[in-house]
Amino acid sequence: MLRFLTAGESHGQCLTSILEGVPAGLKIDIEKINKNMIRRQMGYGRGGRMKIETDKVDILSGIRFGETIGSPITMQVKNNDWQNWQRKMSITGQPFGDKVTAARPGHADWVGINKYNRSDIRDILERASARETAARVAVGSVCQQFLEDLGIKIVAHVVNIGGVRIDRKKIDYKNMGQNISELNCMEADAEQKMREKIREASQAGDTLGGTFEVIVSGVPMGMGTHIQWDKRLDGKLAQALMSIQAIKAVEIGDGVKYADYPGSKMHDEMFYDEHKKVYRKSNHAGGLEGGMTNGENIIVRAVMKPIPTLMKPLHSIDIASRQEVLASKERSDICAVPAASVVGAAMTAFTIADAVLEQFAGNNMIDVKNAIKSYNNRLDER
Ligand SMILES: Cc1cc2nc3c(=O)[nH]c(=O)nc-3n(C[C@H](O)[C@H](O)[C@H](O)COP(=O)(O)O)c2cc1C
Repeated sequence: MLRFLTAGESHGQCLTSILEGVPAGLKIDIEKINKNMIRRQMGYGRGGRMKIETDKVDILSGIRFGETIGSPITMQVKNNDWQNWQRKMSITGQPFGDKVTAARPGHADWVGINKYNRSDIRDILERASARETAARVAVGSVCQQFLEDLGIKIVAHVVNIGGVRIDRKKIDYKNMGQNISELNCMEADAEQKMREKIREASQAGDTLGGTFEVIVSGVPMGMGTHIQWDKRLDGKLAQALMSIQAIKAVEIGDGVKYADYPGSKMHDEMFYDEHKKVYRKSNHAGGLEGGMTNGENIIVRAVMKPIPTLMKPLHSIDIASRQEVLASKERSDICAVPAASVVGAAMTAFTIADAVLEQFAGNNMIDVKNAIKSYNNRLDER
């Protein structure tokens, strides 16, 4: 079983993640992790914070001489901005600086302050902030390297920002993931229109959401299972993606489209080739049937709501004065869908890696690979 925890506040000293369950003997390329960290920070429409931080992972445990050793992997991402926040975020001493008291609609501010009985909204927003996703990307990047070693590849791309959608006919699916553009969009014309849409939102003091898609190729058939609700891989993927801050809908394969068409148009018919291998001509199911991978590419999409901190703030309440006020303005993104797509790839990588290890449990990469080989041999003989 693979599991991870993250810790750290947005303006604290650092973000930390501990990933447990990665088999020994996996070569880890730290530069590959750091490339993903930078990708999470990119995107036209990001706030000033991303200009301050240049995320880089320090690995503190679990790896020796470039290889995993089977023990928990601890990773740390330092916050460069900490030097400006040391007094406000001090672990000891007396409170320093003004309290944040005007709640932002759409954020964790109002509920969190009540639930945790705090008087400074900063006590909530510091952890609710999606800065936490830097720690998730570090975890997902290790998982991605584990999957790559087994021939499983994950790419994520932006398909919609603020209602501007890609034209799928213009996408070169074969070369996906090769050249990452600023908005991580695979269709240049749409990306240009998305940039324009973000610029307009920025000028209006507004924010935008959108949709990203994650495609996983090379996954063996039979990961996940139909036998129990909590072991279905479709459910696990939905939870993993929905757990990302601001993600409000997840669809697998044709997802919401299923509601509009009859079964004759929506299921992926099966055929035999000349070697009696089964093949399909479509992948409406997004690679999952009965909560299990069916050997086709896994396709999942996630919808992100518009960023809740607006430079033209929304009407809200002040918990100290009990007056109606305008919501507070933290330094903030206008659109973070490209960044969310990188986090989505990370969460997908973790979920698939966990499913692979559940099926092919092993404490080292040789045992895992042998288990996969023997499973594939059995399938070939059927
Ligand atoms: C990559 C990423 C960046 C985000 N950046 C911001 C931001 O700059 N300002 C903001 O208010 N919310 C931002 N959010 C969204 C909030 O973190 C999120 O809306 C908030 O934690 C409340 O959670 P909920 O939307 O899931 O209910 C971002 C989310 C992601 C995934």
